Amino acid sequence: MSGPLLEVAGLHKRFGGLVAVKDIGFRIAPGEILGLIGPNGSGKSTVMKLIMGIEKPNAGSVRIGGQEVAGWQTHRIARAGVGIVFQHSRPLHRQTVLENIKLALLPDSLLRLAAAPHVAARAREIAEQVGLGHVLHRHPPTLPFADLRRMELAKAIARDPKVVLVDEPFAGLTAAEVRAFSDLIAQFRAQGRAVLLVDHNVKGVVALVDRVLAMYLGEPVAEGSAADVMANETVRRVYLGGRIETHARPELDARPGAPLLDVQGVSVQYGKAQALQDVALHVREREFVSVVGLNGAGKTTLFNAICGLVPYGGTIAWQGAGLRGRSPAMIARGGIVQCPESRELFGTMSVRENLELGGQHLPPAERQRQLDWLFALFPILPARARQAARTLSGGEQQMLAIARALMMKPRLLILDEPTLGLAPVILEQLSKALAELRRTTPITVLLGEQNVTFALPHADRVYVLEHARIVWEGDPARFATEAGAGYL
Ligand SMILES: Nc1ncnc2c1ncn2[C@@H]1O[C@H](COP(=O)(O)OP(=O)(O)OP(=O)(O)O)[C@@H](O)[C@H]1O
Ligand SMILES: [Mg+2]
Repeated sequence: MSGPLLEVAGLHKRFGGLVAVKDIGFRIAPGEILGLIGPNGSGKSTVMKLIMGIEKPNAGSVRIGGQEVAGWQTHRIARAGVGIVFQHSRPLHRQTVLENIKLALLPDSLLRLAAAPHVAARAREIAEQVGLGHVLHRHPPTLPFADLRRMELAKAIARDPKVVLVDEPFAGLTAAEVRAFSDLIAQFRAQGRAVLLVDHNVKGVVALVDRVLAMYLGEPVAEGSAADVMANETVRRVYLGGRIETHARPELDARPGAPLLDVQGVSVQYGKAQALQDVALHVREREFVSVVGLNGAGKTTLFNAICGLVPYGGTIAWQGAGLRGRSPAMIARGGIVQCPESRELFGTMSVRENLELGGQHLPPAERQRQLDWLFALFPILPARARQAARTLSGGEQQMLAIARALMMKPRLLILDEPTLGLAPVILEQLSKALAELRRTTPITVLLGEQNVTFALPHADRVYVLEHARIVWEGDPARFATEAGAGYL
């Protein structure tokens, strides 16, 4: 066929007083990938939801192969040939990978599921295509993160859509996994589909797309080749920001005594799987320690053990006293605060309520000071103060999770993959904020990341966690030559 497969014009969406999408328009031809970039909260996911019919536009047109679908219900839009890969995976946990894909194949007739052998064959074929052939009968909770994301890709293309909307496929993936996913998305193009791609991994987007549209505050600001858009003045200012600088580290008095946090011989077992094996690390007062490791290496398990959330063997001591037997609440009151990878926000509560919960132990004046400081640090939050946390954009939720952890005035702040889903310019701000925090307060930080461009510039020391074990420890300056393979 000729002409665009997806044609969007004059799209508008308001949420109460907020204009989330304003006059957005673009066309995508068969076999073309359009990249949609923009800061957190600029309206990218909303554009996808409007196309898919998950939200109804206030105005504008969405045409699929010439057919106007704006305002239609989601299932009709799906039948018209649109598939979506959501920003967050939401599999059915008690169904296997194969069953999850089968369900995506037959959303209109669940009852026929068991009786349709050709459906199983087709599901298997799709699973093979996205690289899930070896885990067909596993359940989602046991899968590595990248495989969960593969399953979302599989579900999106199950019904052979002409138009595929892909929201942040690269978030949380390693460099090698990003390459593998890029190949998969390039396949969609080769199959003649029209692809709309959103991601904050700028390198990944630039390498893959045919054209880029940049948004800011719901509006288009630049469109054209990736090179042109990235060179655009506004895009640089509001989205890309600068490089993450190496920060001068506060002089640490090499106090010989016991470290603030001391982890010795810690092992964690989930059923038959060994999640941590004989892990030892320590963090001194005012230090910034980064634990670098790929998905599934055990970072989150380590942090959860420290916070008293999973049972472990070995010892974990805080200011010289063992933590075993203390409840997670007692550990948090003792000053160890984790900002978890899964965010754990209270979705129906407002931004302000989430933050106030974090600061409930503080006297009112101090709580207000802390709140003012955090609102200045993340200017997007005060504007959203009364919005329910679950309706925030992906990046806004991440900022709120970090802010809530800081609201508790931790002595030891544990940050688990804080960079997930954040726009480059926000990473730069967060990086500066952490440097400032260390300069002005006695905070100690334990950071888990696979994004080494963020993890290294701050760190006094780095541990590398691989397959449940610490395999390297040292100065960040030596990381690249001694341990960097696979991360850089
Ligand atoms: N149901 C809703 N009610 C109120 N505001 C909403 C709702 N859904 C989204 N918003 C707001 O609309 C704006 C756009 O959100 P959207 O999720 O489209 O951003 P995004 O560009 O995808 O950001 P990110 O890169 O962080 O994922 C955000 O500021 C968000 O808070
Ligand atoms: Mg989004």
